[in-house]
Amino acid sequence: KILPVILSGGAGSRLWPLSRQSAAKQFLPLAGSKTMIQDTADRTRGPDFLPPVFICNASHIDLIDEQIDDYGAIIVEPEGRNTGPCAVVAALHALSLDPDALILLAPADHVIERPDVFLDALRRAAPIAADGHHVTFGMTPDHPATGFGYIQQGKTIADGVFEIESFREKPDEVTAKSYLASGNYHWNSGIFLFKPSLLIEEMAALASECAEPARQSYAQAKHQDRVIHLDAQSFAQCKPEPIDIALMERTSKGAVLPCDLGWRDVGSFRAYRDLHAAGEEAVIIGDGYAHDSAGSLIDTDGPLVALIGLENVGVIVRDGRVLVVELDASQDVKEIVNWLKADN
Ligand code: GDD
Ligand code: MG
Repeated sequence: KILPVILSGGAGSRLWPLSRQSAAKQFLPLAGSKTMIQDTADRTRGPDFLPPVFICNASHIDLIDEQIDDYGAIIVEPEGRNTGPCAVVAALHALSLDPDALILLAPADHVIERPDVFLDALRRAAPIAADGHHVTFGMTPDHPATGFGYIQQGKTIADGVFEIESFREKPDEVTAKSYLASGNYHWNSGIFLFKPSLLIEEMAALASECAEPARQSYAQAKHQDRVIHLDAQSFAQCKPEPIDIALMERTSKGAVLPCDLGWRDVGSFRAYRDLHAAGEEAVIIGDGYAHDSAGSLIDTDGPLVALIGLENVGVIVRDGRVLVVELDASQDVKEIVNWLKADN
C-alpha cells in the first residue's frame, strides 16, 4: 500500500493577499471548487492507499481537520525545518503503520489536471520504489525556470523509468538554460515515492544532521488522538534542508518517471493567471473590466477593478488589501510579507 504524506508547511507568501497566514494557499479553492489540499488528498484515495497523513504547523491543525474528512494523522512541527526532516518523520510513521508501505511525499499546493495519469504513474513507480529507488516524477520543462529542481535522465531501469544521472536543485538561470538546451533534463515535480526503510537508511548516511534529530523528535512525540506533536527540543536541532538537497542531490539511488500530469505549481500570480487562461485575454475573477490589457489578471472580492492599457499586470483585492504587480515580477510578492512581518 501507499501512504500519502502531504506537506503543508508553506505559507504561500508569493500569493499575498489571496493567501495569508490565517489561510495559506493550500487551504483555498484556487483551482476549482475544492481547496488545493482537498484535491491533493482526493487524488490518492482507494484500495491502494492508506488514509493520508499531513505534516504542518500548529496553526493549521484545525483547517486540515475541517477540510479533510478521512485522514490518518496530523503530524505537527514545532517549527518549519524544511522538507528533509519531514521526509524522515514520514518514513518513520509509515513504518509504524505497515512495514511494507511506500510513502508518497506530496506538496499540498500543486495542480494535477490528469489524476488518472498520476495514478497510472504511481502504479508503475511502486515496484521500482519497492526495489530500492527513490522515485521522482519528471515534468517536461518549457522555460529555464530557476525555482525548480532539474533531473538529468540516465540509464533505463524499466519501461519508461530511468536512473537519475544527476539532480540539481534550483540552478541559476545560465545553468537552467543549458539544461533546457541539452534536452536531457526534467523538472522535479516535488512529488516522491519512497521506500521508508531505504529513505531512513540513506538520510542517516547522507544527511545525518537532518535525520537524527528528526528521528528523536518522532520517537519522543506526544500523541493526542490523531494529532502527533513532534518533540520541539530535538526537532529544533534538525538542519533545515529540503529533501531535494539532503537526499536527491547526493544519492545514487534516484529514479525518474517522466509523465504528463498537467502539473502546475501555483507558486506565483503569473502561474495563477496561467491556470485560468493560456490565451491573450485578461483573466477576470470577480467584479472587473479590462480593455487593451492582454495577459493581465484581476481578482477582486469586492471593489470593481478596471484596467486600461496595462499588459501583464495583476490586480488582486482581498479583505481591503490591494496588490498591483507586474506579473513577471510576481516571484517578489513575498517581499511584502517580509515587510509586513518586520513593520507590524
Ligand atoms: N510541513 C512542512 N514543513 N512542509 C514544508 C516545509 C516545512 O518546513 N517546507 C516546505 N514545505 C512544503 C510546502 O508547503 C510545499 O507543499 C512543499 O513542502 C515543497 O516546498 P516548497 O518550499 O514549495 O519547495 P519548492 O517549490 O521551492 O521546491 C520543490 O518543489 C519544486 C516543484 O514545485 C522542490 O522539490 C523542487 O525540486 C521542485 O522542482
Ligand atoms: Mg513549491
